[in-house]
Amino acid sequence: MYDSGKIIPGLIVFVLFITIPIWYNRGSAGAPPKIELPKDAKTCVLPAAEIRAKHMQLLNVWRDEVLRDGQRANIEIEGKQYPKSLMLTCMKCHTSKKQFCDPCHTYAAVKPYCWECHLAPVE
Ligand code: HEC
Ligand code: HEC
Ligand code: HEC
Repeated sequence: MYDSGKIIPGLIVFVLFITIPIWYNRGSAGAPPKIELPKDAKTCVLPAAEIRAKHMQLLNVWRDEVLRDGQRANIEIEGKQYPKSLMLTCMKCHTSKKQFCDPCHTYAAVKPYCWECHLAPVE
């Protein structure tokens, strides 16, 4: 009555089919994101580990200083002056939002709303 020669391969195909999302996500969500680092600068506004962990807070501090207290005083990196600005500072070195900010944020599943108002660099 039962044709195990057909049922077993059928079951294997079925199990593989319903677990496709698991196999698929291993590849896309598991791999750490590739980001493009600036080529003509060696240092960020903070050491790498710190900026990685704290850039959200730093941006908020800058925004508050500029907007509430009117402090635009420049910061100096490698002898160059930069204002406290998302567009004029961060994005001057990190010229590609798509190759730098986005891959990491997609990976971390965060979606900063900043770009609703601030312009991303033209690519
Ligand atoms: C003068 C150029 C310059 C400016 C301005 C700058 N960065 Fe960077 N940033 C770099 C460089 C170079 C690195 C890589 C540093 C390293 O690997 O030691 C980096 C690293 C980073 C990293 C860590 C990336 C990683 O490897 O995980 C983040 C996040 C980051 N920057 C965000 C920002 C933000 C946000 C701003 C603005 C507040 C900013 N950067 C301003 C040059 C800059
Ligand atoms: C090395 C990975 C990495 C890179 C590169 C990176 N970010 Fe982030 N960013 C994160 C992570 C992770 C979070 C979420 C942190 C948390 O929730 O504590 C975050 C959160 C933020 C937030 C706060 C968003 C929120 O909704 O809380 C802002 C703003 C932000 N990033 C701006 C930037 C900008 C601008 C760049 C590009 C210049 C950038 N980030 C590049 C990893 C990165
Ligand atoms: C509703 C619109 C809006 C949104 C959303 C917004 N901003 Fe702003 N932001 C502004 C305006 C307007 C200014 C004032 C520009 C100026 O005076 O230079 C400003 C100024 C700033 C400044 C200081 C000046 C400069 O040129 O960068 C920083 C830093 C900043 N915002 C960061 C952020 C970050 C980070 C986010 C996302 C977490 C964000 N903003 C989301 C409207 C917005």
